[in-house]
Amino acid sequence: MSAKMYKNKKRSKSHGTQNEIPNVNCLNGTCIVTGYQYYTITKNNLVVNQGYKAKFYYIKNFLLQHTENCSSVLDIGASNGLVSFVAAQAGYPIVHALDHDLDCIQVITKIKRHLQIQTVFPQVYSFGDDHSPADIVIVGALIHWIYSCTALYGNFDEITRYLRGLTKKYLLIEWVNPNDPAIRSFHHTSFNRDVIKEPYTRANFLASMKKYFSSQKVHSVNNTRELFLCVV
Ligand SMILES: C[S@@+](CC[C@H](N)C(=O)[O-])C[C@H]1O[C@@H](n2cnc3c(N)ncnc32)[C@H](O)[C@@H]1O
Repeated sequence: MSAKMYKNKKRSKSHGTQNEIPNVNCLNGTCIVTGYQYYTITKNNLVVNQGYKAKFYYIKNFLLQHTENCSSVLDIGASNGLVSFVAAQAGYPIVHALDHDLDCIQVITKIKRHLQIQTVFPQVYSFGDDHSPADIVIVGALIHWIYSCTALYGNFDEITRYLRGLTKKYLLIEWVNPNDPAIRSFHHTSFNRDVIKEPYTRANFLASMKKYFSSQKVHSVNNTRELFLCVV
C-alpha cells in the first residue's frame, strides 16, 4: 500500500489539518484570535486565552532571556502565530511563522497588518521544505503529526537532522508521548505504518536529539507533553 499524507476533508481549501477553524477579529488596535490557538493581542501585549498557558510563558521567558545573543526565530507549525508574536514583542527582528495551513497564515498576516508588526514573516510551508536557518527554532506539538501523518518520516533521525540544519543556536521542541489522549484517539503516529522505520518512543526521540544536539528537558507541559531544549 502506498503512503498517503493526511488531508482534513473539512479544511481542504486551506490544506489545514486541525479541525479548529483559524479566525481573527481586529478592531481599533486589538485582535482576538480563535481556532487551535486562542489569544488576544495588541501592538505591545499578548494574552493567552487557551490551555497550556505555562508552556507559552516558558517560551516567552526563554525568548526574553536570549535577545542579546539571538536575532532570528523560526516558529515551525506556527498555527495562529501565538509564539511568533510573542517573539516579535520580545524584540526579535526576524520571526518566521511557518505552517501548511493557509487559513493560519492569513490570520497571522491580518494581525501583522492591523497591528503593524513588521518583524513577523508568515509563510505557507510544509515540514521538510528548504528554509534559511535561524538562531532559535521552536517546534510545539508537531512531532506526532510529522512522524507518519502530515509528513512521512517514520523515524526521528531524519527529522532531527533537518531541524539541526535549520538551527543556529537553540531548538525548543515539544515531545508528545504515545499515550497522549490526542494520539490515542486520532492515531497520528500509525497513520502510515509502511513508512515507519523505528517505533515512536521517547527513547528513540531523545537518542536522535542527543545525536545532533546537547538536549535536556526543561518544562513539563502536562503528563504526556514535555519541552526539550536542544543546544547546537
Ligand atoms: C497541534 S498544532 C501546534 C501549534 C503550535 N506549534 C503550538 O504549540 O500551539 C500543529 C500545527 O502544525 C501544523 N502542521 C501539521 N503538520 C504540518 C506539516 N507537515 N508542515 C507544516 N505545518 C504542519 C498544523 O497546521 C498546526 O497549525
